[in-house]
Amino acid sequence: MDGTEIIAQAQSLAVHSDSTEHYTRTYLTPAHQAAARQIAGWMRDAGMAVRTDAVGNVIGRYDGAAADAKALLIGSHFDSVRNGGKYDGVLGILLGIACVADLARRGDRLAVAIEVVAFADEEGTRFQTGMLSSRSLVSGFDPGLLDRRDLQGVTLADAMRAAGLDPARAAEARIDPSKVAAYVEVHIEQGPVLLGEGRALGVVTAIAAGARHLMTVTGEKGHAGTVPMAMRHDALAAAAEMVLAVERRCSAGGTLVGTVGILEVKDGTGNVIPGEVRFSVDIRAADRETLAAAQHDVFAELDAIAARRGVRLEGDRTHDVRPVPCTPWMQDLVAAAIERTVGGGPARRLPSGAGHDAMILAEATDVGMMFVRCGAGGVSHNPSETVSAEDAGLACRALLEMIRSFTPLQRRDSGE
Ligand code: HGY
Ligand code: MN
Ligand code: MN
Repeated sequence: MDGTEIIAQAQSLAVHSDSTEHYTRTYLTPAHQAAARQIAGWMRDAGMAVRTDAVGNVIGRYDGAAADAKALLIGSHFDSVRNGGKYDGVLGILLGIACVADLARRGDRLAVAIEVVAFADEEGTRFQTGMLSSRSLVSGFDPGLLDRRDLQGVTLADAMRAAGLDPARAAEARIDPSKVAAYVEVHIEQGPVLLGEGRALGVVTAIAAGARHLMTVTGEKGHAGTVPMAMRHDALAAAAEMVLAVERRCSAGGTLVGTVGILEVKDGTGNVIPGEVRFSVDIRAADRETLAAAQHDVFAELDAIAARRGVRLEGDRTHDVRPVPCTPWMQDLVAAAIERTVGGGPARRLPSGAGHDAMILAEATDVGMMFVRCGAGGVSHNPSETVSAEDAGLACRALLEMIRSFTPLQRRDSGE
């Protein structure tokens, strides 16, 4: 399949959105379920046997030459952030399907089976459940998440039931890692490096660590006209100072970054001193030590601000992933496939500041990632996120080259 068809598929899939104004597709909404059906249809058309697992992942299988062959998993996610880009996650699923379609057209059966995994909840946008669906595959579903509520107050358990899933059986999504040969994910870079160097594809060396928290500041609601400034416990003014504290500490340089993406005033009214504010804290770094030091300093500063302003600060950690190196032999396999496809000398190797399902699959198997150049300055998590048809075509050819050159015996570190 050429890149034009891949891009057209991604654009047609984006029609399945929770919003009529922009592209937002969150876990288990009607739009998410429609997208899952569309992906399942494309998988069947490509010659795969398709199943939906207990947490809503859509998994297509193309058998290998031997019935008991291990599976090379090729995956990414089909949920999105709010008002995001059409290619984040989706591109990797479509490329996997296109490669299997090519194998099936030629009647080729490989030393491994191919399983394309469309992960249902990587962003965690609706319930703050980042990587829920890949974690469920690798380490089992966490029932503690079932009480999480979305902005409309719907619990995860009710959303699962509404989507035809049984929360009591979510644990069944867990796979047997002994049947997995390796995992590879193709993803847009979501940054400017490949674009800046005029390269279409790159090899991911490692994926940054990250931690996310949801904080609540509780002050004292009051009349905007009558409470003297010195007597106020303004939850929003306190939160505003906290947001700047996150930015200040995480501007220390290197790979450390910090973001407050959610800031909500409860019962916000123009003539009322805010009494309660909720905000998110997302801190990342390439190494655990930098991340831990930044988290320690940030939360100490937030506590100091709360104490000084006489407000209460509470919070829950909603996401915590350690840094993950991509397996060296898988990096080499992806690099060799890119070099044979694109030419132009050694493939560019680069780290990922963004998190990916690959970092969870790394707990169960060897993982590799391929980056595809992002247009529009490398922007992502933004409606202007874009990928060229030419680069999508190159990525498809490189992934197919990698699949054809893959043999499970290459696992040097396992001594097989
Ligand atoms: O936040 C991330 O890095 C990814 O988009 N979930
Ligand atoms: Mn994303
Ligand atoms: Mn992504």
